[in-house]
Amino acid sequence: MNSNFVLDEFQKNAIDSARKGFSVIVSAPTGAGKTLIAEYIIEDCIRNREGIIYTAPVKALSNQKFRDFSRKYPKNVGIVTGDVSINPSAPIIIMTTEIFRNAILISPQRFNDKKWVIFDEIHYLDDIERGTVWEETIILLPEHMHILALSATLPNIDEFIKWLNSVHRHPIKKIVEQNRPVPLDLRYQCSNTIFNTHKELKESGLMDKRSLRALREAHIKPNKLNTLMAHLQSKELTPCIYFSFSRRRCETLAYELHGLNLLSKEEKKEIVHLFNNLINIFNVANDPHINLLFPLVKQGIGYHHAGILPALKEVIERLFTTGLLKLIFTTETFALGVNMPAKTVIFDTLYKYYGRTSHYLKTRDFYQMAGRAGRRGIDTRGYVYTRINPYNINMDNLDKIIYGSYEPITSQLRSCYATILNLYKLMKEKLYEIYPRSFHFQQSERLQKKEALDLLKRKVSLLEYMKYIVNSEISAKAELSARVYSFELQIGELYDTGILNSLNELSLFILMCALVYEPRKGEKKPRFTNRIKKMRKELKNFTKYIHKAEKKFRIYPLSKRFSFNITEAARAWYEGADFYKLHRFCWADEGEIVRYFRMAIQVLKEVRTSYIVEPALKSRINKCIKRINRDVIDAERQLREDII
Ligand SMILES: Nc1ncnc2c1ncn2[C@@H]1O[C@H](COP(=O)(O)OP(=O)(O)OP(=O)(O)O)[C@@H](O)[C@H]1O
Ligand SMILES: [Mg+2]
Repeated sequence: MNSNFVLDEFQKNAIDSARKGFSVIVSAPTGAGKTLIAEYIIEDCIRNREGIIYTAPVKALSNQKFRDFSRKYPKNVGIVTGDVSINPSAPIIIMTTEIFRNAILISPQRFNDKKWVIFDEIHYLDDIERGTVWEETIILLPEHMHILALSATLPNIDEFIKWLNSVHRHPIKKIVEQNRPVPLDLRYQCSNTIFNTHKELKESGLMDKRSLRALREAHIKPNKLNTLMAHLQSKELTPCIYFSFSRRRCETLAYELHGLNLLSKEEKKEIVHLFNNLINIFNVANDPHINLLFPLVKQGIGYHHAGILPALKEVIERLFTTGLLKLIFTTETFALGVNMPAKTVIFDTLYKYYGRTSHYLKTRDFYQMAGRAGRRGIDTRGYVYTRINPYNINMDNLDKIIYGSYEPITSQLRSCYATILNLYKLMKEKLYEIYPRSFHFQQSERLQKKEALDLLKRKVSLLEYMKYIVNSEISAKAELSARVYSFELQIGELYDTGILNSLNELSLFILMCALVYEPRKGEKKPRFTNRIKKMRKELKNFTKYIHKAEKKFRIYPLSKRFSFNITEAARAWYEGADFYKLHRFCWADEGEIVRYFRMAIQVLKEVRTSYIVEPALKSRINKCIKRINRDVIDAERQLREDII
């Protein structure tokens, strides 16, 4: 191992256990050094000529690992995600968990030479949208594979391991580390005053005003960002990650600091040079954000969120890791595992949108983000500042977040049609026997168990009713649906009705964009051409038919409707337009356009893998992808450039 670190006890234990043949579950705080365990195991595998799969929940994390591991183990690393496939036969493969799950369902023999799977951030099993993928992957894991699971937040690790023991072939070792190598100081800004401890804040009395009237009479001052920044500067507490949960707010806050300078003359020169280099390497010099970002970057400030181009996000990340960017305003995706620590973390608010509703941060999420503060080997402490507005939060709410126990992870099992079709193919009616093997089954009450099994049965009934399963066999359209892990019924019907086969390259792209695009609430519809009007009408009836069946079998949420709001942007892109002109044609931010186009490409690629698809359609899909997967949309290009 080329690291000079003296291993911590928990790292040593984890590595020893792995070497003795155990599967290993590690729960250790953010920044404790879980990656090092993974690296030891990877090196063992390389030495012993055994393969290893590394899965991560977000692309930023898999990209970073690809970059890091490629540097450490040149020629040994590949990456396969929805939109990227580089070196897929390498011994170390980085995958998104979705792709790994799909692959073990369809061709588990592909992994005969892979001894390990690493699940980084395994608590994603709890994610309401995607958690089911982790659970299915563990249930379906090829028997010879060992698991290394890593997480900063696994409070019910015993319960989790009990379940693992029931589905996993190898003995399991639990490794728990409670201590953070760099302890955290929690501080607050309230009524525009800095409080260095929780006690000070409590004693100020600002937080016990319950009625609106009492709040008004307390003459609470608004928190000023400048006050906080002046404090941080005087205490030399940069670099700093500022978490805000809204993209727009990330930008407006950054502009609010117009005129604040966080860099010396030398640093300024250096960052301008680096910035110019990076935007050229990543081909984003023409991005309109550059003009907005440049003056900020010169001050040592940046922002980062899902609305900006992935390539530009990487530029900002690079600037931050060099230490020249002193303050970054970002949404929470920056919190997850990507090794970009800072001295200080700031919370704009403790209130956040959680997929379906907004509520106070979970204790688990607070510490996942707060844990970015304090760099091992550089800082002796990490600092966490929370900006408090007593109108929005009281002491009880705050205490619950800060002192509450971590929320246990709970199963979110909810298999999609494609998974069910693939399982049905493998085991027919025996597929119901899978359910008792799930974490969901272990965690649920009797009634919930019955409901979950009922839902699974209703899904199979729907698939029979819609002729995806006919006489206990998978039908032709189902062969296709089983390959696309979202929008299965839409794709199946598009194929079955002959629509898919009738489309030319441009229409294929337009239709896929309509399939993946999710308009914002109240988003204005653009004007449609007559052809699109006709297509919309045809597809409306078609969605109605799917929804009717889903309602009949009480399967919710219903399959997604088509939305043609980015059609004109898709058309322009197909016809060769400059990426930066696309915003004229739709409401989506650049980052979103990239995401939707890449999703459309992914669905096309999935369709292409089915043997049921005729060669003529395959060839149109290929031509279409070739045309649209260029420039900033091409995710592979970004990664290849990145490892230079
Ligand atoms: N034994 C060690 N001694 C000193 N530094 C170490 C040691 N192990 C790891 N580190 C350093 O600690 C830092 C954090 O490590 P790492 O990214 O692995 O954290 P993590 O536990 O995966 O956190 P997260 O939950 O945020 O993903 C890295 O910079 C790493 O080099
Ligand atoms: Mg990590």
